[in-house]
Amino acid sequence: MAILDIAKITEGRTVLEVPNPSKYTFQGQYAPFKAPVFYNPRMEFSRDIAILALRSFTKTRKGPLHICDPLGGLGARGVRYAKEVEGIEKSVIGDLNHEAIPLIKRNAILNGVENLVEVVEKDANLLLTEHAEPGGRFDFIDVDPFGPPTPFLDSAIRALKNKGVLAITATDTAPLCGVHTKACIRKYGAVPLHNEFCHETGLRIMIGTLAREVLKYDFGVDVLLSYSVDHYFRAYVRATMGAKRGDLSASKIGYLLYCPECGWRGAVKLNSQILCNCGVCGKPLRRGGPLWIGALADRDFLEALSGQDLSEMNTKKRISKFLTILEAEKDMPVSYYVLDWISSKLKCDVPAIGKVIQRLKELGYDSGLTHFHPKAIKTNAPYEIISDVVREAKSRLQ
Ligand SMILES: C[S@@+](CC[C@H](N)C(=O)[O-])C[C@H]1O[C@@H](n2cnc3c(N)ncnc32)[C@H](O)[C@@H]1O
Ligand SMILES: [Zn+2]
Repeated sequence: MAILDIAKITEGRTVLEVPNPSKYTFQGQYAPFKAPVFYNPRMEFSRDIAILALRSFTKTRKGPLHICDPLGGLGARGVRYAKEVEGIEKSVIGDLNHEAIPLIKRNAILNGVENLVEVVEKDANLLLTEHAEPGGRFDFIDVDPFGPPTPFLDSAIRALKNKGVLAITATDTAPLCGVHTKACIRKYGAVPLHNEFCHETGLRIMIGTLAREVLKYDFGVDVLLSYSVDHYFRAYVRATMGAKRGDLSASKIGYLLYCPECGWRGAVKLNSQILCNCGVCGKPLRRGGPLWIGALADRDFLEALSGQDLSEMNTKKRISKFLTILEAEKDMPVSYYVLDWISSKLKCDVPAIGKVIQRLKELGYDSGLTHFHPKAIKTNAPYEIISDVVREAKSRLQ
């Protein structure tokens, strides 16, 4: 067994023993995969948001909460939840890696939460299945794997209480963004779109797959928060019992249609008649999905997140900017427009993004930035209007 060389770091209010970054390197950089126990400092932003999300959720939930981090690594999530979120009665942290177990225990003790933390060396699906009976289920489960979350979705749903929240991460962005179509079809049962708004399509495929897994148990889903950043997708989804809730969720599963020729795009429901050709230019359309065509965030949940004290978070500046954009884009239609892409199609210079947004607003459309891409806008303006604004922006606005 390798001897783990450790260092101490702080995330939020939690001190963690982690693999020494100077010891496990590749080409001079810390390489999480080289360490005997996995820890990725780049995911601190994701963990900070997870703390805020779980705090928001606990405020809406009565009684002491039982939560599970079944792919726990060294306990960065499960220990932080126990330490930083009030109302957690039990945080069950699992991992298959034998060497992770003593480190999770040490991290729990280091933070004085060893009485709240239960550490289990077990396959995640087995752990979740053992909690699938009434009385044993969790209020919140965080599925944070390597690659796709899909191998763990069914057992996670069965281990979740009614109105519980399931948080999922996908790091296999290449399949979800259409770089590896076959892998996306295998892992998610959905066809991706390899185009300029592939990150939103990928996120919607991940959520759509979860929604379809939930439906078969006559549960419906509400997406509380979801996003695409860095090298991963993340979603927080509440599952509520009831066939009617399921029907409502099913009505938010569909396809994204896209014209690679003129850039037109639109969302259609699962049972709609599917157009084969673009209504604008007549060229064949591409179809992505099935995927989630409903909202990507919940207004109240986002408000509860934004209203929290961020002062303890190392990533506070990034979080606050990020939440502002998420709030602004939450009611916008599906997909976004990358200005570089439109400009190259129109063979014109790329206009300043602020000016395009302003002009669309002057014309009476909603328009704003999106977290999906720094040079993209979300708007309810039709594609023809957006192209006109981009084409004319240089001469008229600058
Ligand atoms: C991406 S890492 C988790 C990182 C952790 N959540 C964090 O935020 O630091 C995935 C972890 O899952 C563990 N793992 C992989 N397959 C597993 C399985 N089938 N059951 C339980 N743990 C597993 C790995 O050992 C690894 O620690
Ligand atoms: Zn077209």
